[in-house]
Amino acid sequence: MLQKIAVVGAGHVGATAAQRLAEKHLARTVILIDIVEGIPQGKGLDQWESAPIEGFDTRVIGSNGYEEAAGAEVFVVTAGIARKPGMSRDDLVKTNAGIVGSVARDIKRVAPKSIIVVVSNPLDVMCHVAMKESGFPRERVLGMAGVLDTARYRSFLAEAADVSVEDIQAMVLGGHGDTMVPLISYTTVSGIPITQLIAQDILDAIVDRTRKGGAEIVGLLKTGSAYYAPSAAAVQMVEAIALDKKRILPCSAWLTGEYGLNDVFCGVPCKLGRNGLEGIIEVILTDAERKDLHASADAVRETIQALG
Ligand code: NAI
Ligand code: 2OP
Repeated sequence: MLQKIAVVGAGHVGATAAQRLAEKHLARTVILIDIVEGIPQGKGLDQWESAPIEGFDTRVIGSNGYEEAAGAEVFVVTAGIARKPGMSRDDLVKTNAGIVGSVARDIKRVAPKSIIVVVSNPLDVMCHVAMKESGFPRERVLGMAGVLDTARYRSFLAEAADVSVEDIQAMVLGGHGDTMVPLISYTTVSGIPITQLIAQDILDAIVDRTRKGGAEIVGLLKTGSAYYAPSAAAVQMVEAIALDKKRILPCSAWLTGEYGLNDVFCGVPCKLGRNGLEGIIEVILTDAERKDLHASADAVRETIQALG
């Protein structure tokens, strides 16, 4: 168990993540930070009041500043805004880069040895901003997207094959967007290649649905984006770090030559433990998968260029 985990942004993803962290007993204290007065305090108190029912002793505290988060071992960054009418994608990138940049500088000030798990979108670009502004090494700045995208993929496959989600092993790599790369060649049901159980046209439809998974939820909710699965995904990463589990999870990481990619954040299989990123696993890809991974990294680079 860690002493302190901080969640920045007490909106849908952040607040749900805080509750999940507490329910999993991953830290003695969870600090929920937001700029809006009263929201993190109210949500933090509400969550703490659920402790006697849920049976956790993790104290959840809301704050509008970073002092309570001093020395936190892990920060989950969910601060940002959603795209508003009339706002271009580039405007959104710039606004969220400003927010995540200032959050990263505050994290560096109060917890220079911490590990940052970025959730804010556009994910891979926000990881870049967080690493640049915190000055942290790549081992301590990771992005959550692959765990979510893989969970979506696994849930659709489980439904199609009529098997337990627990028995679906899969990995979605690449940037968090339409160019993500579900690896069919590494998708199995308890070791049985998925192509032996699901017809190719259905598999293709599932890959397409996975790529559009975020948009599917936005289309249904209309007023916001997904948060139950995203918060669960971020907490799975924090759990792997807090409990030093050495889990292999698809995360956005800064690449220095892996998969032939340099100086870009992109989703790859990562080993997560108490030191954060403890390794990147380079699996053999088909030519098509490798080409798609490079195209996905190029899409991340293009968005970074929009930042100027
Ligand atoms: P939300 O709008 O419910 O919450 C965002 C919160 O950030 C708000 O409470 C807002 O007041 C706060 N905030 C804004 N500026 C801040 C600052 N400077 N410091 C602290 N807090 C600040 O949004 P939601 O649904 O929680 O999503 C959060 C972010 O996560 C969005 O950028 C969203 O696109 C992204 N996201 C990423 C996913 C991924 O797979 N990487 C999945 C789901 C969401
Ligand atoms: C998602 O994939 C919006 O990135 C968010 O749900």
